[in-house]
Amino acid sequence: MYMEKRFFLETFGCQMNVVDSERIVDLLQGIGYRQVVQPGDADLILLNTCAVRDKAERKVYGHLGRYKPLKDENPALILGVGGCVAQQEGEKLLEKLSYLDLVFGTHNVHKLPEMVQAVESNRVRCHETEFLDQETRLQLFPVRTAGDSVTRFVTVMQGCDNFCSYCVVPHVRGREISRPSAEVLHEVRELAAVGVREITLIGQNVNSYGCKGEGEISFARLLAEIDATAGIERIRFTTSHPKDLSDELIDCFGSLKKLCNHIHLPVQSGSDRILQMMNRGYSRDQYLEKVRRLQTVCPDIRLTSDIIVGFPGETEEDFEATLSLMSQVRYADVFSFIYSPRPGTAAAELPDSLAPAARQARFDRLLALQEEIARDWRDADLGQVLDVLVEGESRQGNGQVFGRTRWNRIVNFDGDRSLAGQIVPVRITRVFRNSHLGERLDH
Ligand code: 5AD
Ligand code: SF4
Repeated sequence: MYMEKRFFLETFGCQMNVVDSERIVDLLQGIGYRQVVQPGDADLILLNTCAVRDKAERKVYGHLGRYKPLKDENPALILGVGGCVAQQEGEKLLEKLSYLDLVFGTHNVHKLPEMVQAVESNRVRCHETEFLDQETRLQLFPVRTAGDSVTRFVTVMQGCDNFCSYCVVPHVRGREISRPSAEVLHEVRELAAVGVREITLIGQNVNSYGCKGEGEISFARLLAEIDATAGIERIRFTTSHPKDLSDELIDCFGSLKKLCNHIHLPVQSGSDRILQMMNRGYSRDQYLEKVRRLQTVCPDIRLTSDIIVGFPGETEEDFEATLSLMSQVRYADVFSFIYSPRPGTAAAELPDSLAPAARQARFDRLLALQEEIARDWRDADLGQVLDVLVEGESRQGNGQVFGRTRWNRIVNFDGDRSLAGQIVPVRITRVFRNSHLGERLDH
């Protein structure tokens, strides 16, 4: 008898993993699996993991532990781990966790069907974590041109060559590689044709897109081409490294109509001494100069950032430099993280005498300052009429739809799902920490 097989997939971490997970879904459907939302219903459970911080990694082990009883109940259940923890640990994961069946690294997503079938038929345990050569990787770039969403990620580059001293990404994602612009544009046009209205170009460091390819166009030119694509209404990109933010790219915020007036430009620290130890390749003043240029070409641009608190050797003075930079830039939002040493990184070797409580205290001060600034930004939206690109029904399912402002704030308002894909003017009536509430104007 034919039995449909079912898989449950859990995704942690950044947009790169989100895109890899879309590919995983496609591949598993290709070998007869259907996705389910309850792990208890699945014949195959996969975790696509993140290793960027210690906390993220521990979460993975926590979740795996939760699936172990399912495996005890049903020994035929296949349990697999992919993504950055898989890449970092490789075969060791199989040694550590006796109930695990397969481990696939960041360059080996395409091998998944083969691996699952090997486990199914032979009950072997397998792992694939080899890095691939550039040519093979280029051929394997994730492409997905079907689906029904309003907004989509398109990968333009993968990997990272920056080796910021705290960061595990170059170690688990491999070297930087850019995708040919013709392929990116082809994918964007296909997506526009099936109703996608917003494109977010993603990569670990999109600003160094194309730098190494011969006869290729710059990232700014790529944006201009997408700006000229019929059907696409909004463009975003992430993540940007400040050192690679060229004047040509900054000018795009003034000249391209569809490019949203928001940029995520992680500063990490406001102290020159720490920035140098982080191997970031820019000074505080150079960063602030880029911010000024952005604000000159696009006066209503809003910035967001990532900041690490408690890098090894961070003094009170260093930390206060970060706070003062935050007050100067006035970020709309900051993703702040307490430093955690990552295996194989340069910073993990640095002497580190900061007590956990001291790190936590600084973190709390940073959060308090950011909350004040963010509240001002939210309050500034109150009463304004903002263009919202509607993405679909609100999660609460209470007759509301949700979408985003050009500044990337989520807005919920009463409306029908048929609005999905449209840009509608919405008056902001209440502001919350993570979203706005509004009412539609034009009806
Ligand atoms: N400890 C704390 N935060 C980190 N990040 C990256 N590595 C570490 C680390 N070892 C943060 C950076 C980065 C974001 C994705 O995660 O701020 O921009
Ligand atoms: Fe990590 Fe730095 Fe590369 Fe970003 S630019 S992925 S922080 S090494």
